[in-house]
Amino acid sequence: MNVTVLPWRAHDSAVWQAATPGAVHYASPEPGAARERGLMSDEPLPVPISMRGLTKVFDEQRAVDGLTLDLRGGEVFGFLGPNGAGKSTTIRMLLGFIRPTSGSASIHGLDCTRQATAVHALTGYLAGEVHLFPHLTGRAHTELVTSLRGVHDPEPAEELAARLDLDLTRKAGAYSKGNRQKLGIVMALIGAPPVLLLDEPTSGLDPIIQHRVWEILRERAARGTTILFSSHVLGEVEQVCDRVGVLRDGRLVTVEPVADWRAHQKRRIEVTFAGALPAPGALDVMGVREVARHGPTVDLEIGDDVDALIKALANYNVLDLRTYQPTLEDLLLGYYRQEAT
Ligand SMILES: Nc1ncnc2c1ncn2[C@@H]1O[C@H](COP(=O)(O)OP(=O)(O)O)[C@@H](O)[C@H]1O
Ligand SMILES: [Mg+2]
Repeated sequence: MNVTVLPWRAHDSAVWQAATPGAVHYASPEPGAARERGLMSDEPLPVPISMRGLTKVFDEQRAVDGLTLDLRGGEVFGFLGPNGAGKSTTIRMLLGFIRPTSGSASIHGLDCTRQATAVHALTGYLAGEVHLFPHLTGRAHTELVTSLRGVHDPEPAEELAARLDLDLTRKAGAYSKGNRQKLGIVMALIGAPPVLLLDEPTSGLDPIIQHRVWEILRERAARGTTILFSSHVLGEVEQVCDRVGVLRDGRLVTVEPVADWRAHQKRRIEVTFAGALPAPGALDVMGVREVARHGPTVDLEIGDDVDALIKALANYNVLDLRTYQPTLEDLLLGYYRQEAT
């Protein structure tokens, strides 16, 4: 059995130490270091995040409906769904903030409802709405979390803030929405908890900062952190996740590795020609299909690989080329159609 992706056993360090307030020290997320410290063994490790028939009913509405899912150590899992799909409700159940109507969830073997305090010691959380103390500076917030987490070194928080261009000297009340979001992310990451639950972490951030957040998440995952994050943006989960689960009306419509999913997502490309148009069907090279033409423009549907198309286009005078990634709506429409047939 390959155990190197899971850097420690949950019952080893953080959980026991969480029982002693103020003394939570996470084991190093480096598998090598964990092994040196004797934290690795061949016994089966608890699954970092596990859900079994997890269900929440609000006033007869099934907000989350029978989710069964296991996340692997060091995995970045994207929880993709439109507003109201049940993403936040799922994350709130994983933290024990709300009680499942039925089913259960565990984090590193700890029950999310009955052992919520121990779960919190292992988990960094970013809420969908970040609540801060308006009269305290950003730094006062990071210092508070640093001490609550039992971490003694303030440097990692300072470093994260610098990477996200966040000024920690200002009061939280003066922060823009983007800065509140950045501070929430920094606070979730302090102490390098082995599990991160992030509710739409990049919403309200500009693209450069979004990329930095993705980079930080990939770094954490490479060190063994298990990350569940929600999003309603298809492109984002494609960029950063190992696997994606699509949630609609509280149900998982599909769970797939991103690599497989990319391979069967169709994109659209519109090519506008300056001179003669290709003969009908001339562009139907490998993986490409002509779907329409209007005036000098030909609409094509294409899979993962653009190479054959680019080579076929080299024979023509191309004025413009636009590609359209499918949106979450396109994707969900595809699943509705599949169900209808
Ligand atoms: N506390 C609550 N009381 C009643 N209904 C709720 C509550 N929280 C969420 N819901 C409903 O549950 C569904 C799922 O919501 P939510 O988990 O917030 O979705 P998402 O995060 O995917 O946008 C929505 O229809 C929402 O209105
Ligand atoms: Mg939400």
